[in-house]
Amino acid sequence: MSSTSSAGPLRLTLIAALSPSNGLGVSGGLAWSLKGEMAYFRKATSFVPPSSHPAAGVETKGKAKNAVIMGRNTWESIPPKFRPLKGRINVVVSRTTGEEREKELGISASQDAYLVSSLPSAISLLQSFPSAFADTSDEPSKPLLARTFLIGGAQLYAQALQSLTRSQELDQAKNKEDAVLDRMLITRLLAPEHNECDVFLPEYRTASQIQEDATLLPSASQPSEADRNSNGAGGQEQEPLAEAQWHKESHEILQRFLGPEKVQAGIVTEGEGQKETKYEFQLWSLKGQL
Ligand SMILES: NC(=O)c1ccc[n+]([C@@H]2O[C@H](COP(=O)([O-])OP(=O)(O)OC[C@H]3O[C@@H](n4cnc5c(N)ncnc54)[C@H](OP(=O)(O)O)[C@@H]3O)[C@@H](O)[C@H]2O)c1
Repeated sequence: MSSTSSAGPLRLTLIAALSPSNGLGVSGGLAWSLKGEMAYFRKATSFVPPSSHPAAGVETKGKAKNAVIMGRNTWESIPPKFRPLKGRINVVVSRTTGEEREKELGISASQDAYLVSSLPSAISLLQSFPSAFADTSDEPSKPLLARTFLIGGAQLYAQALQSLTRSQELDQAKNKEDAVLDRMLITRLLAPEHNECDVFLPEYRTASQIQEDATLLPSASQPSEADRNSNGAGGQEQEPLAEAQWHKESHEILQRFLGPEKVQAGIVTEGEGQKETKYEFQLWSLKGQL
């Protein structure tokens, strides 16, 4: 039986940094190195809210931890000394599992890191943890589970967006108290273009939402058409959604979600000269689900 059942379906938050054309990375790694963005990722995925949750009014009790779910490639893209990501339950998805594979990948339950064979198995595993938001825990040996984040990469994001956000599946999920992906913490890079990216997040915006993101930068700092097309590809052409599925929340709502530590509103500038990067921290919610 699921230990989180009294807190409802497992709610997943996708967290990703995206180039202007939804690029996620290149050659198995990131296409940028942004200290401020990394610090934001660490804080966002580690912060355990004291009380707020769908089961409103229920206090987070005891020593609760968040969980991060990731694909095997993303696990291997994290420098060994930084993995498992500390203070969080790490769940790695691979088609090959078992003790030997765990050893090879440096994954051990004693360090709160687990290897599972699919995204649904990751969800089942996390549902077996007592919820930090439920009334009782009869499994004191396990940490209490607070929030769950999907941290990549491209394959895992695509599968979760495909299977955990559609209304029909959501209804079924609610019945089964399964899982829903209803929030996305997006760091939207605005410049430079990073046309070298070779993996992408599927488009989740309508044409007008894409336009809104594209005009966040004052026109003087917007890349020229030539810049956009330099490096050849110009990103991956993806069809916008015909109807809005996701809604961009205000900075106040993002701040409330991420707790008392201040998150910079508006355009953040990091690095200098050639390395100058501009981005915005955004929270998107699945329409009609929050
Ligand atoms: N910008 C960002 O925020 C961000 C975040 C994370 C990652 N990234 C980037 O994304 C790239 C990595 O993404 P990726 O798509 O190559 O890899 P990924 O999604 O991290 O991992 C893919 C691996 O996960 C396993 N997997 C995928 N689907 C599965 C399924 N249905 N059942 C069981 N196992 C499954 C397979 O592992 P096995 O091969 O072991 O079977 C597969 O090779 C890198 O460039 C990384 O830097 C960017």
